[in-house]
Amino acid sequence: MEVPNGTMYNTKQGIGLWEVVHIRCYIGVDLGTSAVKLLLVDEQGRIENKVTREYPLSFPRPGWSEQNPADWWQAVQQGILALTEGIDKSRIAGIGVGGQMHGLVALDADDEVIRPAILWNDGRTGEETAWLNEAFGREKLSALTANIAFAGFTAPKLLWMRKHEPALFARIAKIMLPKDYINYRLTGVHACDYSDASGMLLLDVAHRRWSEEMLAVCGVTEQQMPRLFESYEVIGALRADVADTLGLPRGCAVVAGAGDNAAAAIGTGTVGEGGCNISLGTSGTVFISSEHFRVDPNNALHAFAHADGGYHLMGCMLSAASCNKWFCDEILKTSDYAAEQVDITDDRLGRNRVFFLPYLMGERSPINDTDARGAFIGMSMDTTRSELVQAVLEGVAFAIRDSFEVARSLGLAIDRSRLCGGGARSPLWRRILANVLNIPLEVPQTEEGPGYGGAMLAMVGTDAYASVQAVCGALTSVADTVEPEPALAARYEDRYQRFRLIYPTMKALFPKLQ
Ligand code: XUL
Repeated sequence: MEVPNGTMYNTKQGIGLWEVVHIRCYIGVDLGTSAVKLLLVDEQGRIENKVTREYPLSFPRPGWSEQNPADWWQAVQQGILALTEGIDKSRIAGIGVGGQMHGLVALDADDEVIRPAILWNDGRTGEETAWLNEAFGREKLSALTANIAFAGFTAPKLLWMRKHEPALFARIAKIMLPKDYINYRLTGVHACDYSDASGMLLLDVAHRRWSEEMLAVCGVTEQQMPRLFESYEVIGALRADVADTLGLPRGCAVVAGAGDNAAAAIGTGTVGEGGCNISLGTSGTVFISSEHFRVDPNNALHAFAHADGGYHLMGCMLSAASCNKWFCDEILKTSDYAAEQVDITDDRLGRNRVFFLPYLMGERSPINDTDARGAFIGMSMDTTRSELVQAVLEGVAFAIRDSFEVARSLGLAIDRSRLCGGGARSPLWRRILANVLNIPLEVPQTEEGPGYGGAMLAMVGTDAYASVQAVCGALTSVADTVEPEPALAARYEDRYQRFRLIYPTMKALFPKLQ
């Protein structure tokens, strides 16, 4: 039974007496690309409240993507105040943040932000990325960092800034990732966790330490880097002034947190050897957890540290649920996404003759092409509005399958996957994806991937649970499984094989269209 101030009452077994139990709770933060989502979760995993605060995203030039860290911080503070309104705040024991990865936040010697953050889906670093992969060399990059360069990664952004904004570059005293800026504002500590640091192309992922050689290549030193932590380690307590402003306990612990995909994997219980989580968020990711360090020999999948102390391989497409959002919001001028899917009836699944390439921001995995762009193909005079909507949902599912195929080619047997992210709320999209991949997709009890994972990491940091594995075992479970249907999966296999022909045929055209 719950009373308004959040105090819980229990019966003591066998005695029948009511006893007041002070249940600790945690704030989990998902610092996303369009909004920050905050959860208040008690230590038994119950979500007591959730709040979302949006912030602007700017595209100053085609393919560029920036945000103002001050907007994140303002939204987080407003969000925490709204989230905790009316509850007994002394119960809040910890905060854990999962955040959009790879973004470059540059601070000067006074810890002031030097320029807007350059985000994970920004494609301006084509030249720097090519220089790293070709002149510096893929083999060397992979040996030093377990990864090659992708345009959204942090190292090419540093090279870009050094070349195009030398005066600003010279002022950099600290480099941070987006969620680390929030953790810094909360605690005053410059920290980063291994999962998020992996995506900078500056970390020696295998040995969980900064790569001196990569720092030198980018013209920075270890003093300019944040201190490294495991995701579940406490980096510090809330600053006294921040605690007072937010009305939170002064001793409240802040853990290092994780990149949003690693945090989402924790939130869905994807830990240890051979787990898989697919996220249909702004980006689309296939996340394969592992106890052991492992590199994709072709570097098509990222080899990153995981927030459970282990590792993971990940494929990331840049525009997933954002393709549907773009098509509905900008083109169809509607916010009723479900209504647009009503006409996509059973008989039409696996039979669409219209295809969509989802490369609205260029693409990362597996094609690594900043010039690629979105395209509809196969339309005829009788093509309907809902066939285009269906093509968008299917195009994203096919592109997820592309990363999945890379994982399969490495001999990884993925026979089922957890599923999370905003797009996963559509039963139709879940069904399309399960059949395109031809595996069962497990929908977790709690769909709030990164925020829930952040709160779980804070529980481990404050000893509510002994390990990340333990908190996952206790708090994550499957609510529903979407099984593939043999006849439909066969039809989608045929469609996917056709989809695969489109990009290679158009590849040479994209740079000419820019
Ligand atoms: C992962 C990636 C995206 C962002 C989205 O490599 O770039 O998933 O983290 O927030």
